Amino acid sequence: MTDLVYVLNGPNLNLLGVREPDIYGHDTLDDIAGALEDRARELGLTIDMRQSNHEGHLVDWLHEAQAHDARAVLLNAAAFTHTSVAIHDAIKAIRTPVIEVHLSNPHTREAFRHVSFVGRAAKGSIAGFGALSYQLALEAAARF
Ligand code: DQA
Repeated sequence: MTDLVYVLNGPNLNLLGVREPDIYGHDTLDDIAGALEDRARELGLTIDMRQSNHEGHLVDWLHEAQAHDARAVLLNAAAFTHTSVAIHDAIKAIRTPVIEVHLSNPHTREAFRHVSFVGRAAKGSIAGFGALSYQLALEAAARF
């Protein structure tokens, strides 16, 4: 196992900072990446942070995380969380532990967000703490 941690982000998260800031906060994805990189350095970890609006990219990157012997994947699959059997199956298909991450708490929102195909396959889930959710997931990954 390497010290590499993949941080994979799904659709619309490229718009963080301007997208519904009352729900998702004012931090951009670059802000989140910068803070994660700082903490990762302290923990002796390396971050590979990516975002895509396309489901298949997330599937490919999950496979890649295992091929590169990553320590963990932090995955905010965004809306695909609630729809994607393909991402669920990719998480099950790899041995690399996946931590589900959300800025908001989907359980307090619309009913269609209460189902998580990611959560059913992930090692654990962290949601509802805004940008801090990513930091908390990284702390967990550092302790594997
Ligand atoms: C989200 C929650 C999802 O329900 C939503 O579709 C997102 C963002 C979050 O980080 O709170 O796009 O994953």
